[in-house]
Amino acid sequence: MSSNTHTSSSKRLLRTLNGEAMWPPPMWLMRQAGRFLPEFRAMRAKADFLTRCMTPDIATELTLQPIRRFGMDGAILFSDILILPWAMGQSLEFVEGKGPVLGAIRSEQDLAKLDPKRIADVTAPVLETLTRLNKTLNGSENIGVAQAGATTLLGFTGSPFTVACYMVEGGGSREFAITREMAFSEPALFDRLMALLTETTATYLCAQIEAGAEAVMLFDSWAGLLPPSEFRRHVIAPTRQIVQHIKSRHPNVKIIGFPRLGGMLVPEYARDTGVDVVALDTGADIALMRDLIPQHVGLQGNLDPLAVLAGGEAMRSEALAVRNAGKGRAHVFNLGHGVMPQTPVDHVADLVKTVRETA
Ligand code: CP3
Repeated sequence: MSSNTHTSSSKRLLRTLNGEAMWPPPMWLMRQAGRFLPEFRAMRAKADFLTRCMTPDIATELTLQPIRRFGMDGAILFSDILILPWAMGQSLEFVEGKGPVLGAIRSEQDLAKLDPKRIADVTAPVLETLTRLNKTLNGSENIGVAQAGATTLLGFTGSPFTVACYMVEGGGSREFAITREMAFSEPALFDRLMALLTETTATYLCAQIEAGAEAVMLFDSWAGLLPPSEFRRHVIAPTRQIVQHIKSRHPNVKIIGFPRLGGMLVPEYARDTGVDVVALDTGADIALMRDLIPQHVGLQGNLDPLAVLAGGEAMRSEALAVRNAGKGRAHVFNLGHGVMPQTPVDHVADLVKTVRETA
């Protein structure tokens, strides 16, 4: 029923994830299912964020909104990286104007309260959403401006380090100082948390694939906060374990890794983790990175979301520069981070047109 190993020529994103250099490159945008869309804001009034994630009707609809409107090559599941800790029993609330608030994990007792056995039951509606999306995207009907069968379904999780940041801090932060201090001052506790996240993340991603995700992405948004030794320990090593776990069960399913702000360590991440595609952040120079990242690893990224907010000629010329920098490599056009909520919809429409122009 699910088509995980779809190599059909109609899926341009899947072909690129499989290593083919396509021109123009396929595209989707991080946070494309979000507040910049009026139809998303309309749904927002109806239910809180966690309810939207956990209701297959709503999550399916929100995932499809940017596909209908723009025909993106990738549909990313409407969910969040914090669903996994919440599914293990950590308290989670999304507070307007503040972001996520969690009951912070600071001790062995806090950690002992988490129950990974709950994940399968709690996330069942998320998996149901993926199954429905797979069916819809692989059905015979067009989805708005998207051709039937052209869109690749992406599952995702956070990477262990980034999820640990929110779990330990109890919410968002600029520096995640409490988490980074814990990694040094209480290495046994921090390692136990990381081991729990590594294992549950791998299992949850496999479940997403079995439910219908055609490729998966690991978001390590805060990887770049770590010094090199810790980047290897808490970013590269767990990512490699997760990739090995997934590949042992689903050898053909492609994995995108996003070691945000990883800088000079991104090529090592590309070489040593086994991910198929590395998502580059806004500050990475594709022209330099393509020579440092092994040829068999694809690239994703990395237009500045602020260029899309600004729009116009500045956006178009920067978008074409990013597109050209990836030419000849397996490259997925995307942003260097999520689309800004205040971005005008017209700018995104113009971006899609610009990237798909053949010249
Ligand atoms: O469109 C998509 O990309 C798919 C869904 C998605 C969401 N979050 C939906 C969401 C994805 C892939 C994420 C990833 C995510 N979530 C990350 C990694 C990527 C990144 O941005 O660095 C992180 C760090 C989170 C944690 C998170 N979730 C924060 C910090 C916040 C609050 C800030 C914000 O952007 O609102 C969220 C909430 C969230 N996740 C929303 C959405 C659509 C907004 C909720 C709302 O509607 O109010």
